Amino acid sequence: MSNTPSTIYLKDYTPPAYLVDSVALDIAIHVGFAFVSSRLTMRRNPAGADAALVLNGEDLQLESLKLDGRTLGANDFLYADDLLTIHQAPEAFLLETVVRIEPDQNTQLSGLYRSKDGYFTQCEAQGFRRITFYPDRPDVLAKFECTLHADKTAFPILLANGNPVASGSEDDNRHWATWEDPFAKPAYLFACVAAKLDVIEDHYVTSSGRRVRCAVYVEPGKLDQCDHAIAALKKSMKWDEDVFGLEMDLDHYMIVAVGDFNMGAMENKGLNIFNTKYVLARPDTATDTDYQNIDRVVAHEYFHNWTGNRVTCRDWFQLSLKEGLTVFRDQQFGMDVHSAGVTRIQEVRTLRAAQFPEDAGPMAHPIRPESYAEINNFYTATVYEKGAEVIRMIHTLIGKDAFRKGMDLYFARHDGQAVTCEDFVAAMQDASGLDLTQFKRWYSQAGTPRLVVRSRFDAATRRYTLEVEQVFAHTPYEDRMAADGLPQARGPYHLPIVLGLLDADGRELPLQLVGESNATGSQRTLQLREAQQTFIFENIDAEPVPSLLRGFSAPVVLDYPYSTADLVHLMAYDRDAVNRWEAGQRLATDILLAGVTAFQQGTGETTGWIPQDYILAMARLLGAAFVEGGGPALVAEALVLPSENVLAEQMGVVDPDAIHAARLALRRTLARELREPLLAAYFELKDEAPYSPEGAQAGKRALRNACLGYLAELNELSAQALVIGHFETAGNMTDSIAALAAVANLDIPARHALLDSFYSKWRDEALVVDKWLQVQATSRLPGTTQDVRALMAHESFDIRNPNKVYSLLRAFCAANPQHFHAADGSGYKLAADVILQLDPLNPQVASRIARTFDRWKKFDPVRQRQARAQLERIRAQENLSSDVAEVVGKALD
Ligand code: TRP
Ligand code: ZN
Repeated sequence: MSNTPSTIYLKDYTPPAYLVDSVALDIAIHVGFAFVSSRLTMRRNPAGADAALVLNGEDLQLESLKLDGRTLGANDFLYADDLLTIHQAPEAFLLETVVRIEPDQNTQLSGLYRSKDGYFTQCEAQGFRRITFYPDRPDVLAKFECTLHADKTAFPILLANGNPVASGSEDDNRHWATWEDPFAKPAYLFACVAAKLDVIEDHYVTSSGRRVRCAVYVEPGKLDQCDHAIAALKKSMKWDEDVFGLEMDLDHYMIVAVGDFNMGAMENKGLNIFNTKYVLARPDTATDTDYQNIDRVVAHEYFHNWTGNRVTCRDWFQLSLKEGLTVFRDQQFGMDVHSAGVTRIQEVRTLRAAQFPEDAGPMAHPIRPESYAEINNFYTATVYEKGAEVIRMIHTLIGKDAFRKGMDLYFARHDGQAVTCEDFVAAMQDASGLDLTQFKRWYSQAGTPRLVVRSRFDAATRRYTLEVEQVFAHTPYEDRMAADGLPQARGPYHLPIVLGLLDADGRELPLQLVGESNATGSQRTLQLREAQQTFIFENIDAEPVPSLLRGFSAPVVLDYPYSTADLVHLMAYDRDAVNRWEAGQRLATDILLAGVTAFQQGTGETTGWIPQDYILAMARLLGAAFVEGGGPALVAEALVLPSENVLAEQMGVVDPDAIHAARLALRRTLARELREPLLAAYFELKDEAPYSPEGAQAGKRALRNACLGYLAELNELSAQALVIGHFETAGNMTDSIAALAAVANLDIPARHALLDSFYSKWRDEALVVDKWLQVQATSRLPGTTQDVRALMAHESFDIRNPNKVYSLLRAFCAANPQHFHAADGSGYKLAADVILQLDPLNPQVASRIARTFDRWKKFDPVRQRQARAQLERIRAQENLSSDVAEVVGKALD
């Protein structure tokens, strides 16, 4: 069965049979093809198995193969099924290969590929084998040297990892350059570029005095969009020195932006390659969110230089070793350079929107899975975001200082090595003295646990008791493991519960657990280890309201029977920004689920399900925006209702129409009831200062645009005029796109005109066109599905460009549930058509679209039948990629 990809298991790991000490590559780029010559200095691994010499190679045309200078004949080797086996290899030798590849035909964007301005590489996870024959696994570390040759006029810039060592001219208007990377690295961190690019240069002097040249290379004509990225890089360098004592270790740090890229960016040693989306920004082309994302992605890739590159992964099952840790580091950076509360709230929102459904769906896996069919499918919210939460829990449990000691110990022990998640946890355990044996369950168990918390207050003894129970979700992962003969022993997690108790006036109570001689502060970190555990607080005069899991201290679902009054109280008084926000989200969720039921019963429109208390609480919140420092940004977050997808996760059988109707009715009601304060805030928040993406100004804009969004829900000409005016007078992209997104939901004559004028203004800025596609793909108007189909034929759309596919189609499937899950199956049909068209071109991107089917079994029988039909149709396709086959196969299982 060609469509059943084979499974790879962690338990089958064996050390490499051969090691590579050094690699010398020579890549000659010609019109339509390239020759890659490699010289590998290899030797048998003393710690390896006595196995044959096997190299990976994919889509390579072998031109020549020599061992210690002798050309190998047909009987000396076998190249089949993407493996090159050399039958007899000595203990140590030089292996020389020449292959021909066709980068212009490489639509997968893995390996060496052509994009508009030249040639670029992407080698993680397994792209290097598409460039040359190599033992392509992260535990083979070698020193690399790379020489590039290309046409001087068409591709004036020639780059590779490390330092430039020599360059020169050749016949036929060609030139060459040699780069040498002083650090041994796995092949997935190799990169090279031959292109026509502009460069902006700056420098950073490290704490020990190394002068690092920082360079950002972009498409010609875009230098005016690079300032923010370079500033973000220098900020990141400083932060990693200040917080972790980690310095840049090379003289050159280069970032190259490319418009065709499957993911966000890539941490290749000294030569990061970035999606343009995370480099280019100008006030009139990029939003505040874009600016923030650039900070975070630049920091993320920079931080990988230590967590990922200096210490790398033994095998791809350990991916979270570098990704979870590096996301945690970029999150901490984000909290330090932006508002900590807002940053954390946004992370919690993403985790719930993307990771919780993944953990509850067919692709559920622990942050370190035991098996996979296609590694590219495991660059997931679980490995990244939940992985970061797991690191954050260690940080919370042992504290900041012990965490720093643990990091120091990790680098002292493992610099230059390829290691496992256990090695990381061991360093944290040894540095802190806290036994993390039980904690390691977070690495092996899938699913989001529920914490069921119940409280009791006893006035006579003045005691307040919290009973906590852990309930584990069963996931298809356990079934798969059991079927594979790898049954999972499951047990309770070790996790931190950060909490406070609020009295009736909103004051924090001093916390004293039974057995303690006095209170130690008003916020505590409790360590939960048991499946059922009780915590008793003494000297409590009246029943408090508990503020649990402050800062979202563990990635769990909290089940506590809060009353509306409790939640209103927390919204007003909790000193923890995350829990203030969380209280509002819980209240809105309760109300919206009641609204869903009302709509299902035909009484939704009466809005009798919306309590006046909630409207008053929201009004109070809006008022508070002007009194507290840093308030507007947090209030803007509080105004965002739980998304339709997050609400869907709360339901037994999802009813996307009722969810949409209830959420819209609540937005309209809030707009009507808060009309005056929304308008007042809108006018008050107008800022005449020159644009800056910094926190304070961006926060005001976020709140002002949130108010505008609500006002746009009023079915009034004056409100529509306000939105149109906002669009026409916008001085930056944040305001402009906020208005356009609002208008895209309105069936008014101006809609077309605004969309058209936006497009004609920005048709030459690819990233802005992406936004234009996205607002249309996420429109709630009827006919959106047909509009998306029509846009696929628009001149601006190109199915070969991942950013275009993500903006138009992933946005439609993942962020427009009402239309994607249309009962007539039209949304599913569109998605399947795209997946089938895309799979032969770019399986990684096709597979990401296929993931949007994940939750199909949560819907009613009519929708399930529609979804199943499309999934079966995809599965039946001949030569389906392993990427899509794994996702669709698991969804149908
Ligand atoms: N290591 C990259 C990051 O998280 C991820 C990445 C970039 C990637 N491009 C990729 C993963 C292509 C798989 C395929 O920073
Ligand atoms: Zn990463």
